[in-house]
Amino acid sequence: MTAVPSPCNVLLVGSGGREHALAWKLSQSPRLGTLWVQQDANAGLRALGRPCPAPLAARERFFLRSWLDRNDIHLVVVGPEVPLAEGIVDELEAPGRRVFGPRRDGARLEFDKAFSKQVMKQANVPTADGRAFTTFEQARAYVQARDVPVVVKASGLCAGKGVTVCSDGAEAVAALEKMMKQRAFGDAGATVVVEERLVGQEVSVLALVDGRTITVLDPCQDHKQVGEGDTGPNTGGMGSYCPTPLATPAVVESVARDVLVPTVDALRRDGIEFRGVLYAGMMLTPGGPKVLEFNTRFGDPETQSIMPRLRGDLVDILWRTAGGELDGAAIDFDPRTACCVAVCAEGYPGTPRTGDPIEGIEAAAACAGPGEEVHVFHAGTALRDDGSVVTAGGRVLGVTALAADLRRARDLATAAAARIRFPGAFFRRDIGHRVLAPAGTVPVLAD
Ligand code: AMP
Ligand code: GLY
Repeated sequence: MTAVPSPCNVLLVGSGGREHALAWKLSQSPRLGTLWVQQDANAGLRALGRPCPAPLAARERFFLRSWLDRNDIHLVVVGPEVPLAEGIVDELEAPGRRVFGPRRDGARLEFDKAFSKQVMKQANVPTADGRAFTTFEQARAYVQARDVPVVVKASGLCAGKGVTVCSDGAEAVAALEKMMKQRAFGDAGATVVVEERLVGQEVSVLALVDGRTITVLDPCQDHKQVGEGDTGPNTGGMGSYCPTPLATPAVVESVARDVLVPTVDALRRDGIEFRGVLYAGMMLTPGGPKVLEFNTRFGDPETQSIMPRLRGDLVDILWRTAGGELDGAAIDFDPRTACCVAVCAEGYPGTPRTGDPIEGIEAAAACAGPGEEVHVFHAGTALRDDGSVVTAGGRVLGVTALAADLRRARDLATAAAARIRFPGAFFRRDIGHRVLAPAGTVPVLAD
């Protein structure tokens, strides 16, 4: 076992809310040396780290690698899926340096849904029945021959936009046409997966995996749709909370036993050693929990409600995970509930309005009562030369509250979010509503 260097210099790849939450937690480690962040990182990240002068673009990895060598960077932490799919982990690993995240062969579980489906079938992992297609005619024939509602998914990465949940065959054929003929998602839609439509509550189960050891983190739920009551178009995520009682300990155990362990084992049998985060997007169906998708990274905005509850030294935890030494890491959770509310800019999830000064960040953080915390994580923000913070994306801030129970955490996060001011700011007030029904109605629990 190679102990984590102390001080440990870290480069964090990625520039959104997930990365600000990771940087915030990394910054609490007594082992952290210099934290480097992307040059175009948001204002929250810029306050915690030094901008890395080396380019991060895929075609310039050689320069980044030599910069890492010259600057004694011990640990690289990769947040988003795109660099993982490009193979950044394979490119930057070096003796004495660890890179947190799966290599390209493991990241394939996320960037190639057809592959992911095949691994699940081989490993007998419960998932929606489905098939992958590379020709429109065959996909259409399959849809028309089946008498059940289906979901059509582009196999490649589409920033969360490549899934169409269809109510009938005509809608499914239209989705196939859009992906396979019009190539609305480019090459990401060259292969599609058509699968049965499942019903139930959705939960996110994230685990740290070091190739062998699997540590399951407390389960979360995110709310993807823009409107209250889960209505309107999908977004990157309007809020999250952790833990969610929808995933009972028995559910989490069955996800570990029937999903995570067999998947990691199946990959290993194929010569793929998976290290990083394995994130199972689950549907709790009447027939038991089934996988909707795998991601191979921390979720966004799940991370904003996981990190404030995580106890332990994140530098050490990520170092050990990246090096196959997770066994023995001290990982534990604060018993309080965390709720994150995304404050968004007008126009989101379409083209958001940007460049507006943001006020009220300190006032939001000051909402917490005794025994509570409020953290304002930056997502789409930018730091101006005059020191002001302006909007620079659709999801602008993630306001996370930590409180005794979900109701209080949600109320506190909502009250804090209401203190954030910029023109056209909006957010959902009902994060957690699948557990906390409005007064006078019956809570909807797991199906
Ligand atoms: P994915 O990116 O595969 O997680 O899909 C995005 C969203 O589409 C999920 O969060 C679900 O709400 C929905 N979805 C995906 N697959 C299915 C399915 N088989 N049945 C019903 N809904 C699904
Ligand atoms: N919250 C969904 C995701 O990170 O993909």
